[in-house]
Amino acid sequence: MLLLSLLLLASDLVSARGAIGKRSVVSSPSPFQAASSLTPSSHVLSLTSQKSAKGYNARSAAHLLHHRSSPGNVPISTHSTGLLSLIEGEEFATNITFGTQTFEVIVDTGSSDTWLAESGFQCVNITNAAPLSEADCYFGPTFDVDETFSQIPGENFNITYGDGEFLTGIMGYENVTLAGIEVRQEVALVNYAAWEGDSTTSGLVGLAYPSLTSAYNGTNPSNDTVQEVYSPIFKTMYTQNLTAPLFSLAILRDVSGPSGYLALGGTPPVDFVEDFTSTPILITTITGYPKTYGFYTIKVDSIELGKSSLAGGTYIVDSGTTLNYVPTPVANAINRAFSPPAVYNEDEGANVVDCKAKAPTLGIKIAGTVFYINPLDMILLAGTDAKGNDICISGVVDGGNDPSEDVYILGDVFQKNVVSVFDIGATEMKFAAREYYPSNDPY
Ligand SMILES: *[C@@H]1O[C@H](CO)[C@@H](O)[C@H](O)[C@H]1NC(C)=O
Ligand SMILES: *[C@@H]1O[C@H](CO)[C@@H](O)[C@H](O)[C@H]1NC(C)=O
Ligand SMILES: *[C@@H]1O[C@H](CO)[C@@H](O)[C@H](O)[C@H]1NC(C)=O
Ligand SMILES: *[C@@H]1O[C@H](CO)[C@@H](O)[C@H](O)[C@H]1NC(C)=O
Ligand SMILES: *[C@@H]1O[C@H](CO)[C@@H](O)[C@H](O)[C@H]1NC(C)=O
Ligand SMILES: *[C@@H]1O[C@H](CO)[C@@H](O)[C@H](O)[C@H]1NC(C)=O
Ligand SMILES: *[C@@H]1O[C@H](CO)[C@@H](O)[C@H](O)[C@H]1NC(C)=O
Repeated sequence: MLLLSLLLLASDLVSARGAIGKRSVVSSPSPFQAASSLTPSSHVLSLTSQKSAKGYNARSAAHLLHHRSSPGNVPISTHSTGLLSLIEGEEFATNITFGTQTFEVIVDTGSSDTWLAESGFQCVNITNAAPLSEADCYFGPTFDVDETFSQIPGENFNITYGDGEFLTGIMGYENVTLAGIEVRQEVALVNYAAWEGDSTTSGLVGLAYPSLTSAYNGTNPSNDTVQEVYSPIFKTMYTQNLTAPLFSLAILRDVSGPSGYLALGGTPPVDFVEDFTSTPILITTITGYPKTYGFYTIKVDSIELGKSSLAGGTYIVDSGTTLNYVPTPVANAINRAFSPPAVYNEDEGANVVDCKAKAPTLGIKIAGTVFYINPLDMILLAGTDAKGNDICISGVVDGGNDPSEDVYILGDVFQKNVVSVFDIGATEMKFAAREYYPSNDPY
């Protein structure tokens, strides 16, 4: 009784589109290098048909809103916007308005640019940049340039994400409304895209720090060297005193439909015990990234696997990434601990696991508090094979073995178990456990 039928790209499976999102920006715009090292086409999933939710328990935690009894020290946001779960809970999107046109965009705390695909853009193949038809990028509706958009001359946009997707375009100012707050904001319009879309979203809203913005001097993206750092949308909002300098996310584990909130200036309108653990946001020290605040980088004390304690490290909190990317030995230990074990599949860039496997008890220890990941989030429905059998993958994947080069990520698999506060004003992340709530996740 599955909501969606997906096809995996793999030897025994049929071809496909739609990536397991890893929308953390990579350090320098070099798409082909990133594409080959990350084998983007290999962890590609396909959304081929959408079945009804018949026989399905389609409750949503979004219906559980009550007044919280404990006031805590973070106010409830007066500007929140709903999240929409896409591709079986691999991606989370929200509405954004450019001028008078409203679009769904991916909510990404792992990058800093806000962009839409512009009508008439060129779609290209992610492996070889060969021209494709617009439809092959699987965007939702595209943006028609309007009279409130004003292009910034002599600048261009050029970005590559961790899953190998790359885009270029123009920069400009537009009146943008997010969660009911309107600002005149520097944005990108994409006219060239290697993108594995979801047929719903038209772009992305980047919520990380200014240092990760991807505007460059000049009009030729292939000559980009001089970054033109600008204020990302949330910074623009808080520097104009339109919100307090913090936002929060409640990402729910629903595999479709409404699935939580992005809340500006306070906590999201969901039930939870407001017992926050705080940890400093750190300057990223990974090679190639600016030595200043960029990602929401935090220290993880340890990874608690059953009764054993594995090495912690430095992780980014990234809503644009589906899975948790952990150091090689940690990934191996966790994936072996499924019963039966999850086995790495190179073609998929993920560990395939029996959909009915027993997931290990996994906790992420941050500033002394262990945040447990519900076993429901440890097994993700990734598609069906040629015979129509469900294919599942582990929520944890090998993020590499070199902490000076590799970006380890607490993705949506982790964030579905917490309310996360991105407190830029205090330069700290705050987490409150929220492991149990009703959802429509079948596994
Ligand atoms: C986005 O806006 C549309 C139309 O205004 C609305 O139907 C939809 O529920 C909104 N989506 C979210 C996630 O808020
Ligand atoms: C992109 O190029 C690769 C390698 O040539 C090819 O296998 C693949 O089918 C192409 N993708 C699309 C969507 O055309
Ligand atoms: C919208 O754009 C116009 C310029 O085209 C500007 O005058 C107006 O102030 C903008 N609104 C906001 C909220 O920035
Ligand atoms: C930006 O590019 C222009 C040409 O488009 C050039 O004249 C200028 O020197 C460049 N600025 C920097 C800082 O590289
Ligand atoms: C983005 O910039 C890099 C240089 O930093 C360049 O090599 C690359 O070709 C650019 N991307 C595109 C699609 O032009
Ligand atoms: C790009 O750079 C090359 C070499 O640096 C230069 O010859 C060429 O004129 C530049 N093109 C543009 C459009 O700036
Ligand atoms: C925002 O508020 C601060 C402190 O109250 C003030 O110093 C600053 O000028 C305000 N900024 C704007 C753009 O109103």
